[in-house]
Amino acid sequence: MAEIARIVILTGAGISAESGIDTFRAAGGLWEQHRVEDVATPEGFARNPDLVLNFYDMRRAALARVAPNAAHLALARLEREFAGDLLLVTQNVDDLHERGGSARVLHMHGELKSALCQACGMRSRWEQAMIDRPPCPVCQARALRPDVVWFGEMPYQMGRIYQALAACDLFVSIGTSGAVYPAAGFVAEARDAGARCLELNLEPSEGSHLFHETRLGAASRLVPEWVEEVLGG
Ligand code: OAD
Repeated sequence: MAEIARIVILTGAGISAESGIDTFRAAGGLWEQHRVEDVATPEGFARNPDLVLNFYDMRRAALARVAPNAAHLALARLEREFAGDLLLVTQNVDDLHERGGSARVLHMHGELKSALCQACGMRSRWEQAMIDRPPCPVCQARALRPDVVWFGEMPYQMGRIYQALAACDLFVSIGTSGAVYPAAGFVAEARDAGARCLELNLEPSEGSHLFHETRLGAASRLVPEWVEEVLGG
């Protein structure tokens, strides 16, 4: 493998699927069980806050029943042992990268274990339910919402991500369908900047043709194999 100094990794729901967290677009997935407009938009929240708070309370509580899999562990090993720059960007709101040992994870779509106060704008670590309208730990207003990026809202830290994409030599997309922008556009950004682009997924993503290489299979097998290649090669 050619010398690699800067890697950007993007993960999606597929990396957590084998841990037992539902993906969004699979048959029986989250978006078949719930209407996106109801549970993942500011308008849905304004219309029926109880429904939305309950949806995210359930998903947050479910994190206690799952564990990171070999793919999360392999990316944590890469963070520890890779000598170059590594940016791990996830669209996932679960905490399995952190529990797998990754210390630096950029959650571009927010986190289930974070609360965003609509009164003071502060973000706080959050483990409990929100359905009973607990007070914000910073300003005490009962105005918390899940710190999750909904459709129509701006994902977090886009400036930093685009900077890293423009400078990387390898972009790796893992377990994402490529159906949601801006994340779906990262491959084109990295490719235009001259990076090699590798996709690891169960099935080809929507932008699969933009990758230089696509490896199809389960993340728990493909990711450890690829990490071994990077560190061993
Ligand atoms: P999707 O549900 O759209 O796609 C999951 C991808 O993972 C699919 O391409 C599957 O083929 C693949 N996959 C499933 N099991 C896998 C496995 N064991 N190993 C490897 N790959 C596997 O989920 P995302 O692409 O993450 O956003 O969805 C992107 C965004 O859409 C989410 O962050 C969420 C959603 O609406 C917001 O809520 C803002």
